[in-house]
Amino acid sequence: MKKLIYILLFLLILTSCNQTSTNPFYNIIKDYPHNSNLINEYEKVYNETNNIIYAINKVNYPNFLTPNSSNHLAFKINNLQLVNTNYKLSKTYIPKTLVEVTNVDYIKRSNQTMMIDQNTLNAYILLFNESLLNNLNLTIFSSYRSYEYQESLYNKEENSFIAAPGASEHQTGLAIDISTKDTGLTKHFDNTPECVWLTNNAHKYGFIKRYPKDKEHITGYPYESWHYRYVGVEVAKIIYNNNLTLEEYFYQYIIL
Ligand code: DAL
Ligand code: ZN
Repeated sequence: MKKLIYILLFLLILTSCNQTSTNPFYNIIKDYPHNSNLINEYEKVYNETNNIIYAINKVNYPNFLTPNSSNHLAFKINNLQLVNTNYKLSKTYIPKTLVEVTNVDYIKRSNQTMMIDQNTLNAYILLFNESLLNNLNLTIFSSYRSYEYQESLYNKEENSFIAAPGASEHQTGLAIDISTKDTGLTKHFDNTPECVWLTNNAHKYGFIKRYPKDKEHITGYPYESWHYRYVGVEVAKIIYNNNLTLEEYFYQYIIL
């Protein structure tokens, strides 16, 4: 009798192992970090989308694309920083890579030195030089903003374009507000040749238009034709070619 139970047990284990390894979805998910208890849920989303990374993220973080739905610390994966309404920088965060803006046109304000992340400036100088060859007049209006400065802007003029302190990419030094001197950070910039050129070329230098049209339900902000974010050329090209927001890029391309 005991022998029979052992044999049955052995057969049971054998069939269940066989089932896992012969389930085609197991072969798809096995190389990705995942919670094996949720395998049926991952499979369901995968069958709808054919994107295994998205399926895992969607099941693990269902609200990731909903602005103002949670409160976490900002994070970096593969050296790519995410700061938004759900993932915020601490009050004390100051990037170590800040340098003074040089070799490009920018708005000079008394008692203020405009600072920016070093790699972002290097990439922007290339973009700016190319824009000059096209007879365009791009000017940086704002780049790095400290937590305190963002807080003062937010308190002075609470409007849907200004991020709460900690939730602004400007605190990373990776964001730049670019416009022409005449149009400034207004809707008037949208119709300029400078805006059109930036829209079609910024990705070649590693920049993305961070708050695109019709994506407010994901980014949490209305369209900002002037706010660009440095993400590097490889990521910028994927985002541009697939018409994504940075949030969607994370969700579809990186396991969170
Ligand atoms: N205008 C963007 C959302 C910021 O304040 O960071
Ligand atoms: Zn901005």
